[in-house]
Amino acid sequence: MKKIDDMYKIIEFDELGDERGNLVVAEGESELVPFAINRIFYIYGSDSQVVRGQHANIKTRFILINVSGTSKVKLDNGEETRIVELNKPKMGLYIDTMLWKDMYDFSPDSVLLVLASEHYDAQEYIRDYDEYLKILSDKRRTGEL
Ligand code: TYD
Repeated sequence: MKKIDDMYKIIEFDELGDERGNLVVAEGESELVPFAINRIFYIYGSDSQVVRGQHANIKTRFILINVSGTSKVKLDNGEETRIVELNKPKMGLYIDTMLWKDMYDFSPDSVLLVLASEHYDAQEYIRDYDEYLKILSDKRRTGEL
């Protein structure tokens, strides 16, 4: 069974700063971004009371970067949970498939950039937690996870 600590990774991008300011680069299929980037989206204007996410993905892997402000991500693999605070534009959070995720505690200036390995497909989003647990246990039984 895949351990939760093997299902996510905190990434530190290089900051290419000089006297003009900072610049961070994320390249697909590189050491830090282990997939081709097929989609990007960003989330902003969510206040501190909102909880977003609340889903797991069968196929998509993600990297989350708070390019402005801060937010928290709670990761859950049905067995254990981890909470990661995204608080630096050069910090990324890699999230594997089949991890349940909640994003919350958005600061007023939070802009959460998401790099995704797949185009959007609503069918591969699991939005019901009980269904998530069932798919997890099926995958664990067959040795897929
Ligand atoms: P949702 O997945 O609920 O956002 P979050 O995970 O941040 O809480 O997406 C909100 C809406 O946007 C939902 O109707 C699906 C749609 N959507 C797309 O059409 N394409 C996308 O790439 C994403 C992420 C969402």
